[in-house]
Amino acid sequence: MRNRDFAATLSWDQENFVHPWEDMEGLGAGERSFVESADGVRVTTENAERLIDGPGGMWCVQLGYGNSELAEAMARQAREMAYFSPFTASNSVSAQLAHEIALRTPGDLNRVFFTTGGSTAVDTALRFVQFRNNLLGKPDKKIVISREKAYHGSTYLAASVSGKERDKNWFDQADELTHFLPDVNPYRRPAGTTVEEFLDAKVADLENAILEIGADRVAAFIAEPILASGGVVVPPEGYHRRCRDICRRHDVLYICDEVVTGFGRLGHWFASETVFDIVPDIITCAKGLTSGYAPMGACIISDRLMQDISGNASRGATFSNGYTYSGHPVSAAVALKNIEIMERDGVLDHVRRISPLFQERLSDLSGLPMVSDTRGMGLVGCVECNVDGMDGEDALQLDTEIGARIDAHCQKLGLLLRPIINMCVFSPPLIIAEDDVNLMFDILGEGIRRAADDVARQRRRGA
Ligand SMILES: Cc1ncc(COP(=O)(O)O)c(C=O)c1O
Repeated sequence: MRNRDFAATLSWDQENFVHPWEDMEGLGAGERSFVESADGVRVTTENAERLIDGPGGMWCVQLGYGNSELAEAMARQAREMAYFSPFTASNSVSAQLAHEIALRTPGDLNRVFFTTGGSTAVDTALRFVQFRNNLLGKPDKKIVISREKAYHGSTYLAASVSGKERDKNWFDQADELTHFLPDVNPYRRPAGTTVEEFLDAKVADLENAILEIGADRVAAFIAEPILASGGVVVPPEGYHRRCRDICRRHDVLYICDEVVTGFGRLGHWFASETVFDIVPDIITCAKGLTSGYAPMGACIISDRLMQDISGNASRGATFSNGYTYSGHPVSAAVALKNIEIMERDGVLDHVRRISPLFQERLSDLSGLPMVSDTRGMGLVGCVECNVDGMDGEDALQLDTEIGARIDAHCQKLGLLLRPIINMCVFSPPLIIAEDDVNLMFDILGEGIRRAADDVARQRRRGA
């Protein structure tokens, strides 16, 4: 039970704390759960409920909660030197982190620009592409091709290349700089189309767009290897490789947004080359870089891209982009420790070992009522549900609520999920053990069954 003191805290949250994706209709009235402590793969709410953290914070708490080595690395750095301007000086931890990242990236992606998170990493990548083309004397080569359902962040430019329609309704976008390709989800392919035909069509979408707009106007293609918050959409095998080849043919840069897939989610430091067989021109990452213990992101640029605009070719230009907290020493210290622990404890091997169980238990859910699709890769998954046998507004309403209903049942049973409309997505801490993977899916299955019973009851009442 919430105690009396807690009532004050709740009112501060409602009256003063504007949350991301704030629901304006219910402003000041919503009662969120408070997560007040956490250890391992579990969080504890203000009501002392202990829940497995299905979303891993927000796809980021790779090493789990309460890791004292990470906490100690931050404390040590804060005591020694918490902050100094990255504009005027450097520091050993940031320089070492840039080096450690470059050692793990594919190809010649060796230039690390530190940011405050994923949105600013994407924003930096897009600004860099504009800057580069201006320097190369190609000021008209500015359009960025993205995809429906993509999410790349919340700064103006990163939001402009994001393709989730519901998020755009009331905002302005840099529309003159973007072009969107249709959904790449094989589950939504037209009836009678094979996955191979669908793949050919999706690849053709990219090339046709470049040809229609004109390669002299298209600067870059930006893609998440797996569209994460768009519903864990895994494109058909070979998609990224073929898109990369098209980009190369038309002098279009390939920006791979690894904010979710980087740092172990798919069992590798980066997924671009090891999983998807591409060496992009730019990689963006954040989240798992610090296991969520401190905010930090990075935009990693290839030597090749830097070469023809630096030194004598630079025309005296300065890349005037950066943040007070670029390469923040406390974030850099925790990121270095994060990498050290992942390596020492074989966390990437663990992810590769445990992923088949995770994916098998995920696909077993497809037999349950309401489940229309299950999909995922590595330690990320999504269950999509639909309420069939009903029409009109009621069905639509239920469809949009179903994720939240499943989540509510799962919370009672000890599991937190991330509901997105009619989907539940999950990406637990990478250190999750086999027992907890099994428990997570046992609870999820039961949560889906209970939500399906609710719907059946509601339907009987409506009949
Ligand atoms: C693929 C991808 N890119 C960028 C972002 C934005 O990252 P941040 O919220 O750290 O700004 C996210 C956030 O979820 C993401 O999933």
